[in-house]
Amino acid sequence: MKIEPKIMRNVCLTAHPKGCAAEVEKQIAWVSKKPRDRKTPQRVLVIGGSTGYGLASRITAAFWGKADTVSVSFERSATEKRTGTPGWYNNRAFDRAARREGLKAVTIEGDAFSHEIKDRTVQAIKKKLGGAVDLVIYSLASPMRIDPDTGAKYTSVLKPLKEPFTGVTVDMMSGEVSSVTVEPADEQAAEETVKVMGGEDWKLWIDKLREADVLAEGVQAVAYSYIGPELTFPIYREGTIGRAKEDLEQKAQLISESLSDLSGSAYVSVNKALVTRASAVIPVVPLYISILYKVMKEKGLHEGCIEQIYRMFRDRLYAGGEVPCDEEGRIRLDDYEMQEDVQEDVHQLWHQASSENLPSISDIEGFRSEYLRLHGFDCPGVDYEEDADPRSIE
Ligand code: NAI
Repeated sequence: MKIEPKIMRNVCLTAHPKGCAAEVEKQIAWVSKKPRDRKTPQRVLVIGGSTGYGLASRITAAFWGKADTVSVSFERSATEKRTGTPGWYNNRAFDRAARREGLKAVTIEGDAFSHEIKDRTVQAIKKKLGGAVDLVIYSLASPMRIDPDTGAKYTSVLKPLKEPFTGVTVDMMSGEVSSVTVEPADEQAAEETVKVMGGEDWKLWIDKLREADVLAEGVQAVAYSYIGPELTFPIYREGTIGRAKEDLEQKAQLISESLSDLSGSAYVSVNKALVTRASAVIPVVPLYISILYKVMKEKGLHEGCIEQIYRMFRDRLYAGGEVPCDEEGRIRLDDYEMQEDVQEDVHQLWHQASSENLPSISDIEGFRSEYLRLHGFDCPGVDYEEDADPRSIE
């Protein structure tokens, strides 16, 4: 069948198998060319390793660092008539490339919050990786979590706390800029968001891996966070998700303490705002990203997921010596984004934004194209007129 993008409210419901595979290969090709001049981890677990920052982490570990990897992700498989999720295709493209390079790769698809998937991961590390992991990346972005002990279901929401927030946002496909008001979350919704996107499950993972004796001496654990500028504070850092990220940051301390006898440590890495499936649905953020891309591209500072994560490996985690952190102990990869000159320019453009001038004051085209490519569309060299089998990346 012919596979086309179906996008509703910044959510793409389809994905192209060959396009997704081409995008994975592109990241692999980019990072493979980088000189291998660091001692990097040899066995790596990525929780949330099928798309976005997690996929870039797995690719960097494997194709720059030559690590064997295990990845956990939650994906919908393809059928004869329906496409799978992009992560489902990415996983297959990753496995194919790892086989080609002679790297071990175990790809586990299922709910990372469940006991079953944690147990399967432990078994995979023991039996297939043949040794303990020296890096664990936690890169989940999930709308919900079911507690496997109680059956309680928690939902994460992207809302302000205390007061309604009105801001401007953009519909990616039409380019229409409009005002949006988001009502504040009540306390229960805020607490549920912390349950889903905070650090509790990260700690459960590390405890489980530790008990099973699959963490190596000197292991490092990293989870991803975001801060961003004041423009997005009400909806992000000071909203429900920000509260969850604060919890994640606090858990990093606890996890670090629990790893001290292995001489291990845990970090939160604050990354740059980027187009991913998760970020496209946060109100206000797509407009911010479109403007940010324009400013950063013009200044030669733009990075995508793979460039950010490669920099985290090369200049932060494995630079040799102490890992450079801010005063709160966080790794900062948002340093270019938060540069004063970048933020000043973004701020100025932000206040001018309208549907009419959007193409000239922002990189909405770059945003759109990158979002499509995340789903395997708009990729150079892929024939979209050709009949494609949704079940195969070949
Ligand atoms: P993404 O949506 O591209 O990736 C999310 C990953 O989580 C996927 O691999 C998905 O399969 C997996 N996942 C979701 N629910 C799962 C479940 N129940 N069980 C197993 N796997 C599950 O998201 P993105 O943007 O890469 O986000 C990853 C982390 O990076 C998040 O913590 C996010 O807050 C953080 N971050 C994102 C930024 C951005 O601008 N995109 C900026 C800074 C941090």
